[in-house]
Amino acid sequence: MFKDLVKTNRSYRGFDESRTISKDELLELVDLARCTPSGANNQPLKYRPVFQHDEVEAVVANTKWAALLKDMVLPRQGKHPTAFLVICVDTSICANPANCQTDVGIAAQTMLLGAVEKGLGGCMIANFKKDAMAELLHLPEGLVPTLVVALGKPDEKVVLVDAEDSIKYYRDGQDIHYVPKRTLADLIIE
Ligand SMILES: Cc1cc2nc3c(=O)[nH]c(=O)nc-3n(C[C@H](O)[C@H](O)[C@H](O)COP(=O)(O)O)c2cc1C
Repeated sequence: MFKDLVKTNRSYRGFDESRTISKDELLELVDLARCTPSGANNQPLKYRPVFQHDEVEAVVANTKWAALLKDMVLPRQGKHPTAFLVICVDTSICANPANCQTDVGIAAQTMLLGAVEKGLGGCMIANFKKDAMAELLHLPEGLVPTLVVALGKPDEKVVLVDAEDSIKYYRDGQDIHYVPKRTLADLIIE
């Protein structure tokens, strides 16, 4: 069911490193993003696949995960993602990356849903240094890395709960990650 796909598609921050991801698998996900809507059909996004171990580790080192969990360093050693798709805005098509963030979101979510269908999962990461990322990935001039999509085989449990007072995500002693979501009633404008 589509709802199961959506609910399984959580932000995962712990992965089974034995499940590597091939370049072809990453290209299949980009091919899904290629079919998604784009404002004025401009299609300003380009995608940098990252799947070689050393490069994956370099990207991990330049990303910040779960900023709300201040006393934890995620992903933990031995539970790193095994690939990334770095979504870049081609500024020769969209001069101001801020103007195509909706395209970026649609592309990222579509690729993650595609990943879940393959038994994989991931996390969108906006918390990274753009200049450092562009340099380490040797991105051509004019391509601005805007959102990093981490990918791997999830190796942790993430549970959705109804939000009461707080929407701050948290972990218990078993490292189960809880994500409070506002209830349906809280979202509807009567
Ligand atoms: C635009 C965007 C940027 C995000 N950036 C980060 C990030 O830099 N680091 C991180 O650990 N999670 C990041 N996340 C994941 C959110 O923290 C996550 O979506 C939220 O905690 C709810 O969890 P859920 O995705 O499982 O529903 C980002 C999510 C979105 C949509």
